[in-house]
Amino acid sequence: MHKGIIISLALITGVGLFGIYAWHSPIEPINPQQNSAFTPQEIALGKTLASAGYCGTCHTAPDGQQYAGNYQMHTEFGTIYTSNITPDEKTGIGSWSLKAFERAMRSGVSRDGHHLLPAFPYEHFNKMSAEDIKAIYAYIMTSIPAVNQVKEENGIPFPLNIRWLQAGWKLLFADTSEFAKQSDKSEDWNRGAYLSEGLAHCGACHTPRNAVGAEDYDNMYAGAAIDGWYAPSLTASNPAPLPWQAEDFYEYLSTGNSTYHDSAGGPMAPVVHAGLSALSSDDLMAISLYFADKAGSVEQNIKNNEALLSAINAQQALPDLRLDKGANLYAAACQSCHYSGQDMVKGRPLLALGSSLHLDEPTNLINVILDGFRADQGIHGVVMPAFRQAFTDEDIATIAAYLRQSAGEKAWPNLISKVGEVRRQPQFAH
Ligand code: HEC
Ligand code: HEC
Ligand code: HEC
Repeated sequence: MHKGIIISLALITGVGLFGIYAWHSPIEPINPQQNSAFTPQEIALGKTLASAGYCGTCHTAPDGQQYAGNYQMHTEFGTIYTSNITPDEKTGIGSWSLKAFERAMRSGVSRDGHHLLPAFPYEHFNKMSAEDIKAIYAYIMTSIPAVNQVKEENGIPFPLNIRWLQAGWKLLFADTSEFAKQSDKSEDWNRGAYLSEGLAHCGACHTPRNAVGAEDYDNMYAGAAIDGWYAPSLTASNPAPLPWQAEDFYEYLSTGNSTYHDSAGGPMAPVVHAGLSALSSDDLMAISLYFADKAGSVEQNIKNNEALLSAINAQQALPDLRLDKGANLYAAACQSCHYSGQDMVKGRPLLALGSSLHLDEPTNLINVILDGFRADQGIHGVVMPAFRQAFTDEDIATIAAYLRQSAGEKAWPNLISKVGEVRRQPQFAH
């Protein structure tokens, strides 16, 4: 056969097959009264799982009604509004059968057959068991008040807004594999992997993405920019001076702070306080074991670690304050709260230990200086003041440069303009 004809035929077959793949039929609406066979245990489990999957964080607008959607996600492809997932029959998912809900959670297809954007982390939810998905459905259908609120149109420009193009994206980039246990790892490790890779989708923020916005699975948890912050690497390449051991992860994930590292700010704050706090301590320990393995399974007594001693020394050794403007501003505005002897005090973070001074980009440090910590971020009930109004971009850059240098790292370039950029970036509702 002629080469051109073969190619044309292949193309036609390809487009045809793609059409079949792209097309999903609607699933018939149901009368919600049909849904009554849920056990109290199922509903309670669903509540826990819905927290640990942060459904409420993404599906509730600031000051909006729980799960009614229209929370704005600012992505590099445009603004995305989340859906109303209350059991309202007209504008929410009240008429969705379990089958329609499970299809959405597993393959990102709405009840009426249209493709959902991957800002909805179905690639991770796909790793959940059928029982867990059913429990979340039971919780939403029985316990969330129905709210009538229409979803805003996404601000995604043409042609990215074409829903069936999403099908092509999925075909090429999405990870739709199910969760597979690793037989050479412990039960706890596998439980941690199941929760982290699925429901709690840590990789959605901590794994870098490629040019078309898909997670780069070859670099899982290697660190990535997200919502105007940087989610640091959770592997051995994490830049903090002290290793992340299982107990550090556990302390951080259960209290919002690790004494030997730092506090959970920005988008990580609701992960800890609105999300993971619903999980049992066994589940949090399982997640911690899984990440300790990813971070290289270091086990050592931190107390006499050299990096710790030099961090303690760095904060005590101030240069001549009359000569160094950064040291001067730091001593006046920061040091009263950021000091520690060798007995580390929780809530008095030693800044040289936190990854924000060691990352290649200063975004996290600048964010913290601009906006501080609210009581519901980092350690619960503990605040750090915001300096957005008090300091100019130059002041903040000067403090940041001083801290960076005293942590033994090479200078960040273009710091003043970077502070301006971070100051002006859209404020996310975390
Ligand atoms: C990171 C943010 C995020 C999280 C977390 C999240 N969602 Fe969503 N979800 C979205 C976005 C964005 C959409 C709409 C995507 C679009 O417009 O294509 C969506 C859509 C949906 C839809 C489809 C609704 C429809 O009408 O088509 C369902 C169902 C859903 N989410 C359920 C959940 C559940 C259950 C959880 C918690 C386990 C959850 N989502 C967590 C962002 C999120
Ligand atoms: C919505 C995005 C998002 C999700 C989901 C998320 N993280 Fe984070 N994470 C971040 C950001 C941003 C930071 C930096 C916060 C800061 O410096 O205050 C962070 C920081 C961390 C840190 C501290 C790292 C360091 O070097 O200081 C750990 C540990 C961590 N996350 C673990 C997890 C785990 C485990 C999960 C899943 C259970 C998870 N994260 C899910 C965004 C996220
Ligand atoms: C009134 C006390 C106070 C002042 C003043 C203060 N901080 Fe903080 N800072 C805190 C507390 C407390 C935390 C931990 C917050 C939490 O976990 O809720 C914190 C956290 C941080 C963090 C997050 C990383 C980590 O190690 O946990 C950085 C970075 C930081 N502060 C920098 C600064 C800088 C720079 C200044 C001066 C411009 C400053 N702080 C002034 C109390 C303060």
